[in-house]
Amino acid sequence: MTMSSVLPMVVSRQELEQRDQDDPLRGLREAFDMPPDLLYMDGNSLGVLPHRARQRAQEVISDEWGLKLIDSWVENDWLQAPARVGDKIGALIGAKVGEVLVADSTSVNLFKMLAAALQANTGRHVILSESGNFPTDLYIMQGLSAFAGDKVCQQIVEPDQVIEHLSDQVAVLLLTQVHYKTGQIRDMKEITRLAHEAGVLVVWDLSHSTGSIPVNVNDCEVDFAVGCGYKFLNGGPGAPAYLFVAERHQNSGWPILSGWLGHRDPFGFSDQYSPAADINRFQCGTPSVIAIAILECGVDLFTSTDMVALRDKAIALSSVFIGLMDARCMQFGIKLVSSRNAADRGGHVSFSHPNGYGIMQAAKQRGVIGDFRAPDIMRFGITPLYQRFQDIFDVVDIIHEVMTMGEWDKQEYNVQPAWS
Ligand SMILES: Cc1ncc(COP(=O)(O)O)c(C=O)c1O
Repeated sequence: MTMSSVLPMVVSRQELEQRDQDDPLRGLREAFDMPPDLLYMDGNSLGVLPHRARQRAQEVISDEWGLKLIDSWVENDWLQAPARVGDKIGALIGAKVGEVLVADSTSVNLFKMLAAALQANTGRHVILSESGNFPTDLYIMQGLSAFAGDKVCQQIVEPDQVIEHLSDQVAVLLLTQVHYKTGQIRDMKEITRLAHEAGVLVVWDLSHSTGSIPVNVNDCEVDFAVGCGYKFLNGGPGAPAYLFVAERHQNSGWPILSGWLGHRDPFGFSDQYSPAADINRFQCGTPSVIAIAILECGVDLFTSTDMVALRDKAIALSSVFIGLMDARCMQFGIKLVSSRNAADRGGHVSFSHPNGYGIMQAAKQRGVIGDFRAPDIMRFGITPLYQRFQDIFDVVDIIHEVMTMGEWDKQEYNVQPAWS
């Protein structure tokens, strides 16, 4: 039997309150500024504000920038922040010290990693990915191949055809480990192994993995990876992203964004670019110091627990959620999109309903914050650092009421803005 089928039976709110009492991780919630009256189920899009981040932003602005000004680059370790926080994220994903750097956005890092992979795998010219991958992954790959003309070509295939397309033309495979809509987990180790067997390097997008599921990039022999800082890492809106480059690839090629901070001697101010011999060559320009300091507060919250304990709680939360939704909301035509097998399901649970948008809007009026992904996906983030079992009960209770009362059908809940 897989972990999957062990879905708990329907439970009462009282039982779940007790489960919260018994939860060894319950104290972690106190580190967060939880907005009252909200049932927050969107930490897979934007994590909750850690108290420490508020205080740290104040310190960096008032004391470090305000009082020490430019001396803070050295005295307050600003210059080292991308590598320092990179190493802390690296510890969460099984990277060695010096293999992860905080920099830029995930999209920009995808560009850098794809270009690095192409240079590390000369003689091949195809970037392969799957349909339905997160759009920015596909767009960046398209931009790179449009720029490179005949030298690089992009290929998008159906998810179940990726392996058979690993030909000797393919230089790099670009995949996301946890799918942004369904939460489906890809087998990173096996896919990377098969890619390597075919001579293909792999860039993994870990945006929905890091801080959500245990990841071990080196055990999976990952070549390159990227990910977001603002989701499960609670780094704040637009937080800097991170990139991983396996040590064995750090010295190959010419960084495509060869900015001055990736130079081996940035303060030598030479006319000629010469890349740093380590992960620092993937830095481009001046790092966003205040944003990195805030991200660090989110990342530090993981040091008082481990990913296995968090994952166990996440599975318990999502299993209770699915069990309650099955019992109380399936009758209204709400269908589970994510896998029933917990081992295949990442940090969010998705359901579908033709009126999904209206349902999420009506639930929002009652304090449930999840999100909607067109055409019909209702997505709920599972974030064990601060979520409680009783919250899950209340969320399902509200969705049940929205459905029973037909609240989703109100006209104001069905005018979909262009950005939703
Ligand atoms: C899988 C994945 N990759 C990338 C991104 C976003 O990239 P960026 O931070 O550059 O906007 C997201 C955002 O939701 C995502 O889900």
